[in-house]
Amino acid sequence: MCGIVGYVGPKSTVDVLLSGLRRLEYRGYDSAGISVITGTGLETRKKAGKLDNLIAEITAHPLAPANIGIGHTRWATHGAPTDGNAHPHLGGTREKLSLIHNGIIENFSELKAELLTDGTRFASDTDSEVAAHLIAREYDKSGDLVLAFRNVVNRLHGAFTILVVHEDQPDVVLAARRNAPLVIGLGDGENFLGSDVAAFVEHTKRAISVGQDEIVILRSNSVEVIGFDGSPVTSEEFTVDWDAAAASKGGWPSFMAKEIADQPQAVADTLMGRIDSDGQVRIAELESFTADEIKNIDRIVIVACGTAAYVGDVIKYGIEKWSRIPVQVELSHEFRYRDPVVTKNTLIVAISQSGETMDTLMATRYARELGAKVLAICNTQGATLPRESDATIYTHAGPEVAVASTKALVAQITAGYLLGLYLAEVRGATPVRELHRLGRELLKVPALVSDVIENLVQVRELGNDLANAKSVLFLGRNVGFPVAMEGALKLKELAYIHAEGFAAGELKHGPIALIEEGQPVIVIVPSLRDSDSLHPKVISNIQEIRARGAKVIAIAEEGDTEVGQWSEHVIFVPQTEQLFAAILTVIPLQAFAMALAEAKGLDVDQPRNLAKSVTVE
Ligand code: AGP
Repeated sequence: MCGIVGYVGPKSTVDVLLSGLRRLEYRGYDSAGISVITGTGLETRKKAGKLDNLIAEITAHPLAPANIGIGHTRWATHGAPTDGNAHPHLGGTREKLSLIHNGIIENFSELKAELLTDGTRFASDTDSEVAAHLIAREYDKSGDLVLAFRNVVNRLHGAFTILVVHEDQPDVVLAARRNAPLVIGLGDGENFLGSDVAAFVEHTKRAISVGQDEIVILRSNSVEVIGFDGSPVTSEEFTVDWDAAAASKGGWPSFMAKEIADQPQAVADTLMGRIDSDGQVRIAELESFTADEIKNIDRIVIVACGTAAYVGDVIKYGIEKWSRIPVQVELSHEFRYRDPVVTKNTLIVAISQSGETMDTLMATRYARELGAKVLAICNTQGATLPRESDATIYTHAGPEVAVASTKALVAQITAGYLLGLYLAEVRGATPVRELHRLGRELLKVPALVSDVIENLVQVRELGNDLANAKSVLFLGRNVGFPVAMEGALKLKELAYIHAEGFAAGELKHGPIALIEEGQPVIVIVPSLRDSDSLHPKVISNIQEIRARGAKVIAIAEEGDTEVGQWSEHVIFVPQTEQLFAAILTVIPLQAFAMALAEAKGLDVDQPRNLAKSVTVE
């Protein structure tokens, strides 16, 4: 998820682009760059690192005045965050075309092969540069920039918002979007483009949302929108209802609120290009593991900390069930110092949003010394963990700024399930028909996540009502158990109150002594439809605690006709596969913790005592 700005108009283009990128930094900040067309032609400045590095570069090497340009702040998906991989990318041998891109071009490898055959030389490892050269090549043939642009965007698969300027046409910015955001800002004698309105809201509140497979032809005094097929599009203008101050969070009251809302996209982007329509999983990053190496794995050890460790506790159910490889989850800092048994047939799966958690880095370094292979599941391109792993499955959740992890968690569960389905098929451990059925069900999950997010009002009200609770307990079984643990962690780290998660079956072995009159207990209830009889067991657990005065809030599946009679409140989530339910049931717990913390007037983005990445042991 990157930040994109475009501008045509009388203002100082460099200033407009840089202030727009500043407000979009939350979308990505591992490199940044701009291109402008000055009186002497196309000029570009770009630098790895935060936006301040680009500003320093421009200060050292000033750009001439310009009235047209494009700017980009990157969250790397293909290619490490380096100066060369920073956007914009120049296209064509004359380097007169400049392109910026947000998203993932799934078929970039075959398109790049076509260009290499033509003798095209690449300056970066990115998928985006492929589009730049394709458009430049088309333009050099036809001399028609809009036609060249349209021909190329019709060839691209995946998700993309693309902006292009060309020195030969110094009055127009072209843009296209497919499965990625793009909005137009309408000014007086000037017009803007942005990945969201934060890019230009300080200049204008008049905006147009660009639809799927649409192209924008933007000039200072005109805006034309056409379809990828060239047909004219009638767009609807709207007025932005928040000010520049909120822009740094994309209009949201907090990064955490924004990142909870980002979760459908985080799951969808992590799935993108990794499951085909039949449900077969293909993970390009695992092609470095041979089939024999995968068949020889005799144990998987998942190492992680905090929320990432609870992700491990969720995905172990699927990985072991489908691949028949024994899976254990270890806290990184415990694994490192307990003299564990590790062999060359042990696969270490290291889960880390930041890729910089020192506990997890130490655990993976130790495991590699013992001869194990390490597979990372990470959200940050170019981080230390991917660099020190044998392979990395990147989650594509975009930058997660709030300390409390939300969208990274659902993306990590998604990546872990993709891994389990892939290993199972390579090992022939589960019938392919069942694996592909599960793959097709997994493709439906982003829409189900959207449904959950659209129905969080009730759970937010409960969080508000329980602002004075002294403690909250969480119960769950199967994948609901780590979800309960994660719900408790969210409440601890956001609202600073005691919270504890338990396996529901463990209750009678001690924790039930905690239950007293009025004790709030949130119970993640398994599906009534599943045949393994967990539902009636959890209902019995609920009856046991209610008999002792507990106030029960149930998170249950739509269609569960039994749970309501035993609960003060029921939050329903859509039906899905038993193991996928964890992705849905965790979301109300995130919203509950955030609402309770907000009711206490606490900072949900920067909770006390915590850091986003713990880079010390
Ligand atoms: C979760 O909300 C916390 N921020 C924390 O537990 C976090 O998950 C843990 O520190 C691991 O971080 P990582 O995923 O970057 O390795």
